[in-house]
Amino acid sequence: MEDKQNPEIETPTNITIKGIIGLLLETVKSDDGKKVISLGMGDPTVYSCFTSPPLAHQAVAETLCSYKFNGYSPTVGLPQTRKAIADYLSGDLPERVSADDVYVTAGCTQAIDTALSVLAFPGANILLPRPGFPIYALSAAFRHVEVRYFDLLPEKGWAVDLNAVESLADKNTVAMAVINPGNPCGNVYSYQHLQEIAETAKKLKVIVIADEVYGHLAFGDNPFVPMGVFGSIAPVITLGSLSKRWLVPGWRLGWLVINDPNATINTPKFVGRIKKYCDICGGPATFIQAAVPRIIQQTEEVFFKKTNNLLKWTSDMCFQKMKEIPSLRCTYKPEGSMAMMAKLNLSSLRDISDDIDFCFKLAKEESVIILPGVAVGLKNWVRLTFAAEPSSLEEALKRIKSFCQRHSYEESAHS
Ligand SMILES: Cc1ncc(COP(=O)(O)O)c(C=O)c1O
Repeated sequence: MEDKQNPEIETPTNITIKGIIGLLLETVKSDDGKKVISLGMGDPTVYSCFTSPPLAHQAVAETLCSYKFNGYSPTVGLPQTRKAIADYLSGDLPERVSADDVYVTAGCTQAIDTALSVLAFPGANILLPRPGFPIYALSAAFRHVEVRYFDLLPEKGWAVDLNAVESLADKNTVAMAVINPGNPCGNVYSYQHLQEIAETAKKLKVIVIADEVYGHLAFGDNPFVPMGVFGSIAPVITLGSLSKRWLVPGWRLGWLVINDPNATINTPKFVGRIKKYCDICGGPATFIQAAVPRIIQQTEEVFFKKTNNLLKWTSDMCFQKMKEIPSLRCTYKPEGSMAMMAKLNLSSLRDISDDIDFCFKLAKEESVIILPGVAVGLKNWVRLTFAAEPSSLEEALKRIKSFCQRHSYEESAHS
């Protein structure tokens, strides 16, 4: 039979976080009695100290048991869901967004894919942060959008290298992505830096894709400022979800929101394009959407405070404990999100060749999973998630310390 496989159709070879963590877990020795501690994925629900608000469960149970939400929702989302999200975001904005500006998606992941898909055209390119979140490059690869990376500067609180942004952009640049609060670096940008980003985007005539999946998870000096505040400087597409702030990543409820008071991109043509794309995606489960107004309106401030206090505590502890490990260098104390980066001091390690080697040997010898930096674009760094039970985190850092000692030159000189 004729081979119908098109040799030109190739699967993108991008590294994914899930893929690499799967391989690391396979490496763990199952017979040494050590409990596996995973600081690889950003899923806090693995730990019982990060529990979703009971009210959210009641809201979903009610909508499910009402039998009213078994049908399809409009593919852009239920009107009441769009309105609740618009009201929630508008509370922090100088100019309100309307329900019509909100598109409900299956988590922030689908919001990323929707944004890239509706912006793509032949020859288009997009500017992405390095380090960053690999789903952007994967989605871009599927859409044949060229990716150009600008650096985040560790010595400047992981600020965007705006000079690099300017030198990378050209007439085919559709957007630049900004993740704030930041994954994988734990940074929270100041009002001033966000304004500078918006001014740069305006100068370059590009859209800002503002990934705010960690919105409000800020516990340091800088408060969380949504990029939409600067929507009148440059058009902003805000992406978010319930996943992190409400601790329900499995509910797959996210959003894409156009913040564009000058209607630079918010034209009937563009809206039509997004709606068509939503017709392909279909949106998240209707009964989950129907619960969103109650979840957003009635979750109490104490719930959010408790999460942020815990994240501050665990991130501070990680930062302090890492100082005791000479092979890891972390100069930036996280102020938000759930992850942080540390640089490997490879010259102090006797038999570790790079970040991948470090993470695989660590998984094998200590049953601790952390992410090699290459997975987020920074070779010879590692990413740790600090959204974990404090006792597990402490134990993991103890094991990382003894692993580093065992593999360091100094230790071999003493033994
Ligand atoms: C920066 C960033 N964007 C988007 C997502 C995806 O969010 P969701 O789980 O809502 O799909 C994540 C998840 O970890 C993330 O870290």
